[in-house]
Amino acid sequence: MMSKILTFPQGFLWGAATAAHQVEGGNIYNDWWWFEQKGGCENHEVSGEATDHYHRFEEDFDIAQSLHHNTHRFSIEWSRIEPQEGSFNPKEIQHYRQVIRSLKKRKFKVILTLFHFSVPWWFLKKGGFENPQSPTIFNRFVEYVVTHLNEEVDFWITVNEPSAFSFNNYLHGIFPAGKKNLFSFLKVNRNLLESHRRAYLTLHKHLSNIKVGIAHDIPYYRPLNKNSKLDKLLLKFVNWIGNDLFLDPIKHHLDFIGLQYYFHTKIQFKLGGSFLKIANEYSVINHVDELYPRNDLGWEIYPQGIYHVLVGLKKYKLPIVITENGVADAKDNLRKDFISNHLVWIQRAIEEGVDVKGYIYWSLMDNFEWITGRKARFGLVEIDYENNLKRKIRPSARYFAQICQENRLKIEG
Ligand code: BGC
Repeated sequence: MMSKILTFPQGFLWGAATAAHQVEGGNIYNDWWWFEQKGGCENHEVSGEATDHYHRFEEDFDIAQSLHHNTHRFSIEWSRIEPQEGSFNPKEIQHYRQVIRSLKKRKFKVILTLFHFSVPWWFLKKGGFENPQSPTIFNRFVEYVVTHLNEEVDFWITVNEPSAFSFNNYLHGIFPAGKKNLFSFLKVNRNLLESHRRAYLTLHKHLSNIKVGIAHDIPYYRPLNKNSKLDKLLLKFVNWIGNDLFLDPIKHHLDFIGLQYYFHTKIQFKLGGSFLKIANEYSVINHVDELYPRNDLGWEIYPQGIYHVLVGLKKYKLPIVITENGVADAKDNLRKDFISNHLVWIQRAIEEGVDVKGYIYWSLMDNFEWITGRKARFGLVEIDYENNLKRKIRPSARYFAQICQENRLKIEG
């Protein structure tokens, strides 16, 4: 059997990510906590103590270190730091200082996300990101963080997946804001981008030697029928609404792009559908007609899509960090191939001149997957919810560890 070695650039970032609400536990002051209590998630699940990462972060970072990660991405929880409007809790900033210190002690590069889907409950009650004052309110939080968190963060992410946030909260209505309104959706997008822009300036005002970016989710869209002019036209529109609409207005306020890639979506023009209806159709189409493997949530796995997305991002002439890519796979049957196949395509994009700086797997551990709760198991590390949240390293995590350690991928074939 022939084997092939694919090497990655020197200093490549290898690691995994988490997000505060999904792992910390006890985030009682945010919109998700409230939403969960009133039965918003599947089977009325609530995040509760999540994986208790708030108390067990040292243990979790020991695991990441043992798996040869050199980078870790996590988010800080706005509602802990500012539980009531304008009143900041110094104990919580101290907590995150310890988290960063603990990563630095292990010589990790740190990627910190300021806002990953959950917002303080008081903020949502004031209209959340629909409120025209929201960029100012968010900036006050960023200003507090940057002046109090004087630890070394290498990469700052202002907003996680603005498009998924606004789509799920304001158009699809399945996240806490619960709205289905095109105008709210557009308003929120505008305010999120302005929040990013102001946070970018605030961070750079206070800190030198940092990189500030956004983490943007980009599926790879294809027309269902290559010969259909209408499908191709719709494809242009969808690419514009999913990518350009978000990245173009802030392209001069980005030091890097965080790319989050999970799947591809096939699109087809249908007469008579509202935008929402068409959007729903995508997922239906996406789930029926091809024979690619699917993850536990039914998402088709399409590794070559990440290559096309990366090549598409080249026009921005910015470094790219893959800040999320992962698979829900409780039995760990798919994860090894998922990782290696995506890395093959990422490496090809690098060879063709795309400046990819790192690969951060989602997620370090199983966690509370928003409305789907605990059933979606994305972790390199399994959480045994029946047994005191015991951490168990999955075999695929060890496979990934070897890639991280050697900075190269060996493919048999
Ligand atoms: C989000 C994560 C989420 C993951 C898997 C991304 O959209 O940033 O919070 O758990 O996808 O759905």
